[in-house]
Amino acid sequence: MAIEEPSVVAAASNAARLVREGGGFAVEVDPPEMIAQVHLVVSDAEAAAWAVDAEREALLEAVDAAVPRLVMRGGGARGLDVRVLAPDVLCVHLIIDCRDAMGANLCNTVAEAVAPALERLTGGRAALRILSNLADTRLVRVRARVPAAALDVPAADIAFASRLATLDPYRAVTHNKGIMNGADAVAVATGQDWRGLEAGAHAFAARSGKSAPLATWRAEGADLIGELEMPVAVGTVGGASRVHPGVRLALRILAARSAADLAAAIACAGLASNLAALKALAGEGIQRGHMALHARAVAADAGAGEHVAEIAALLAAEKDYRPQRARELVRELTARK
Ligand code: MEV
Repeated sequence: MAIEEPSVVAAASNAARLVREGGGFAVEVDPPEMIAQVHLVVSDAEAAAWAVDAEREALLEAVDAAVPRLVMRGGGARGLDVRVLAPDVLCVHLIIDCRDAMGANLCNTVAEAVAPALERLTGGRAALRILSNLADTRLVRVRARVPAAALDVPAADIAFASRLATLDPYRAVTHNKGIMNGADAVAVATGQDWRGLEAGAHAFAARSGKSAPLATWRAEGADLIGELEMPVAVGTVGGASRVHPGVRLALRILAARSAADLAAAIACAGLASNLAALKALAGEGIQRGHMALHARAVAADAGAGEHVAEIAALLAAEKDYRPQRARELVRELTARK
């Protein structure tokens, strides 16, 4: 996980351990289908939509012809949707199975390749030709159970904290930010387009017109059940995945052999981070664990060197995290040794 905030890594690890006590994460990953969009300016969008629909098969063949290597790997065209956005604006979605690629380049190649045929069919002009980052054809679903015995906070309290995200869009955004703490950290470490991941996740969360939680928790007896659903557009081929040594190492550590494996890990890290946040918020509050790790950074900055853990523990015990206090403690310690 690559993130500036160490408490996220500690908290997600701790929450994942609790989920393991309930049997681990159960994950379902959709086929790796992405949407390439072509927006057309036309004189009559309804008529243009009919014209495009009538040529569906030929257009899907044109998609495949634009990405022959992808077709050889088992991917390619999977569908075509036509959306009338205004009397003079038509949007064509080309659905493309990108296999183990994130798919941005593939989608953009296809959109640009097929746009001239769409212009001929509609008599219009292709304005934009680019993927959509709302990858709602590429969802991941994760389920987790935490047995009551593993919890130090009642399951009902965590479930109530989750319910607040359903009731309140202001809370839902923060709740989802906590999910992205874990999801982004894995995405960054594995060289993914985390801005695309973020954009897709938040737009998906707000698809009803108001922000809703990407994951929810409910009590089942004294146990806690969590469920998450979100789009995860990531790849293990293309981009930095085969080039950057840190990314290659991270993918090896994960044992991610496919984009689906990586998407599953990202979503699980998201659900684990969400559990950690809600458990802390419903219990002792977020600051104690956060400040304990923050103390390590303050101690290191004060020159604690090999004594970081010791100085951090002293700062945490005193609940005093000022750099000046850390420097005093370092001076006292080094004078004694
Ligand atoms: C902080 O980085 C993340 C949280 O705000 C998430 C949440 O409130 O659920 C703690």
